[in-house]
Amino acid sequence: MIKPDAVAAGNSGAILKQIEEAGFEIVALKMARLSDVYASQFYEIHADRPFYKMLVDFMSSGKIIAAVLKKTNAVVDFRTLIGSTNPENADAGTIRKLYAKSLEYNAIHGSDSDENALIEAGFFFSNFERFSK
Ligand code: CMP
Repeated sequence: MIKPDAVAAGNSGAILKQIEEAGFEIVALKMARLSDVYASQFYEIHADRPFYKMLVDFMSSGKIIAAVLKKTNAVVDFRTLIGSTNPENADAGTIRKLYAKSLEYNAIHGSDSDENALIEAGFFFSNFERFSK
């Protein structure tokens, strides 16, 4: 998911280009604005964390772009492509190093496991909105 900071800054096209150039196939894609309820649900796993309310407020503050991506080893390779959660620690050339402003406003989210990728894809897309080849 490309987060509201990166969409608002006009960086979504460059980010999608970088994702495709890294060998990911875009299987599903949509722009949306999350309500408070949907943002809370998406990040429910962090409900007990001190930053949860700020995260929900931010994620519902503007448009996001959700995508389902396909590639061998996709979860690990995508996390390498986007870089560390905190852009200060991200490697040069990663999406967060290039576009994230801070740990809170960090431009992009990637699933942390195949299991969560399936859950998160199902959050945004029905089966007939996902196309491969
Ligand atoms: P993301 O990969 O989308 O997963 C949870 C998000 O919480 C994370 O990126 C950060 O943008 C955000 N966040 C805000 N504060 C913190 C924090 N202190 N530690 C980790 N994540 C944080």
